Amino acid sequence: MMNKIAVFTSGGDAPGMNACIRAVVRSAVYYGIEVYGIRRGYNGMISGDIFEMKSHSVSNIIQRGGTILKSARSKEFMTKDGRQKAFEQLQNNGIQGLVAIGGNGTFTGASIFYDEFGIPAVGAPGTIDNDLYGTDHTIGFDTAVNTALDAIDKIRDTADSHDRVFFIEVMGRDSGYIAIQSGIAGGAELVMVPEVLTPIAEVTEVLKQGWSRSKSSSIVIVAEGDEEGNAAEVAEKIKNRIGIDIDIRVTTLGHIQRGGIPTAYDRILASRLGLAAVEGLMGGQKGVMAGIINNEIVYTPFKDTIRLPKPINEDLLRMVKILSV
Ligand code: F6P
Repeated sequence: MMNKIAVFTSGGDAPGMNACIRAVVRSAVYYGIEVYGIRRGYNGMISGDIFEMKSHSVSNIIQRGGTILKSARSKEFMTKDGRQKAFEQLQNNGIQGLVAIGGNGTFTGASIFYDEFGIPAVGAPGTIDNDLYGTDHTIGFDTAVNTALDAIDKIRDTADSHDRVFFIEVMGRDSGYIAIQSGIAGGAELVMVPEVLTPIAEVTEVLKQGWSRSKSSSIVIVAEGDEEGNAAEVAEKIKNRIGIDIDIRVTTLGHIQRGGIPTAYDRILASRLGLAAVEGLMGGQKGVMAGIINNEIVYTPFKDTIRLPKPINEDLLRMVKILSV
C-alpha cells in the first residue's frame, strides 16, 4: 500500500501544470495518501527541497500559468551521483512513489531512475510541444496554440495593412504540432514543419502564385525545428530567390507561447491526468505515463513515449494548401 508520494514539474513549463499539481494533491488527499511537493524538478530532488502539501496548498492555482513547484532542466540528475543523492533524499522523506509532470527529458530521467533505484513513477505529459507518444494531447499544447493564434491574428492585421508577407516562427522543438494547428486556425498560406520537407522552391512558388492572383498579404508559419531553418533563415532564402517586389517581415513568437492562463481544455486534461497518475500509482503502475487517447485514460511505458514517433496528420498540410488558394 502506497501512503506517501511526491509530485514535481520538470523541463519546460506549460500552462496547465498547476491544474495538474492541484489534481495530484487533491486526489492523494481524497485517497488518504500523504503528498509532498518537490521544487525545481530533479534539482530539488537532489538538494532535498521537499515539503508536505495539503489540500489548501493548491487552492486558487487551477487558473494560473507556469508552475508553483517551479521547473528546471537538471544536468546533475543526468549523472549517477546526482541520482544517488536524489534517491537518498526520497528515502529520508519516506517517499514511495513519484508523479512526474513534464516531457521527454523528464520521462527519460524517471525511467533511468526507476531502473536504477526501483522508485515507481507515473508521468503526466506536460509540454507545449505535444510531441509525446501515448496521448492525443499534452498539457499546455492547446493554450500554446491559442496564444500563437492570437499573435497570428494580430500580425495578420498589420500584414494586410502594409501588403506584406510575414514569416512567423512558433515553438515545438522537433515537432510541428503547434505550427500546424495555429497555422490552420490562423488561415496561413503555408505551414512549414520538421516532419515534412517543404522546399524553399515550393514556398516561393506558393507566394508568387498568390501574388499573381492579387493576394496582397500572406502568412507563412515556420516551426522552429524546420529543416529549411528558422523563420529568419527561411525569409532570407525567399528574399534571395523570389524575384518579385514583396515586402517581407519575420516574427518569432518565442516564450510567450509557454505562459498565460490555461484554456478550459488544458485545465480539464490536466485534472484528468493528475487523477489518473495518482490512481495509476495506487494500482501498481510504474515507469509509465498517463495519457488520453480517444477520450480514454491509457498508460504507456516511458520508454515508448520517448522512443516512438508521434506523426502529424499530413492530410492537414494538404488542407492548408487547398484552403490558401
Ligand atoms: O519543450 C518546450 C519548449 O518551449 C520548446 O518548444 C522549445 O524548443 C524549448 O522548450 C525552449 O527551451 P528553453 O525555455 O530552455 O529555451
